[in-house]
Amino acid sequence: MIDIHSHFLYGLDDGAETIEDSLAMLQMAAESGTTDIVATPHANSDYPFQPDLIRQRIAEITAAPGVKPRLHTGCDFHLSFENVQDALQNPTRYVINRGPYLLVEFPHSSLAGMGRSLAALLDLGLVPIMTHPERNPHLRRMGSEFQEWIQKGCLVQVTAQSLFGSFGKSAEQSAWEMVRRRLAHFIASDAHDTEHRPPCLNLAFDAVSARVGAAEARALAIDNPQAVISGDPIWATLPRKKRWYQW
Ligand SMILES: [Fe+2]
Repeated sequence: MIDIHSHFLYGLDDGAETIEDSLAMLQMAAESGTTDIVATPHANSDYPFQPDLIRQRIAEITAAPGVKPRLHTGCDFHLSFENVQDALQNPTRYVINRGPYLLVEFPHSSLAGMGRSLAALLDLGLVPIMTHPERNPHLRRMGSEFQEWIQKGCLVQVTAQSLFGSFGKSAEQSAWEMVRRRLAHFIASDAHDTEHRPPCLNLAFDAVSARVGAAEARALAIDNPQAVISGDPIWATLPRKKRWYQW
């Protein structure tokens, strides 16, 4: 499995604090079946994005003995005005492996202006991956605007732990609905440590396999993330319509 969202790089944000933390997270990821993992430190008002330091840390960790998952670079890009302006000037700065894919995190306050930001990124040829909309009260209503963004080319990442209620009942229901209706394209860990927010996808993979289907689990945790780290296109399946009898 391939994890496109993780805070395992130490000392850059609220994820791993020390190199030992980083190595413990990577070992746990490998033991739970993750072959590739994308380092996505925050870029927001609390944590400045530092590409040089990211490359340095990746090199340092890769040189440590026995590190299993292959490491890739990316960013947990907060969709703020300043960040979007900078991404428009420096499109390759925040993307995953210098390809077209960019994780985007919405503010929890209001979605005003977000459509314009996403359109600007899409116009530039970037593919925004909207991270954990199931955890955002504005996004989890999955209104027409949210579905329009998907139709225009944005993709959706659900957090593995949301499927088990770690972010509350509403997020859990919303995550399953997105997976069932094919509004989600990825499961990722958004890991911050080995205890509360671990870097594991295996339980989510098994749960999606059992409740929705093995093909869906494979698309969410293997095939679509593989396309992201390779910079290849993703041929997303059409969302399923909500039936009148479904909640
Ligand atoms: Fe994150």
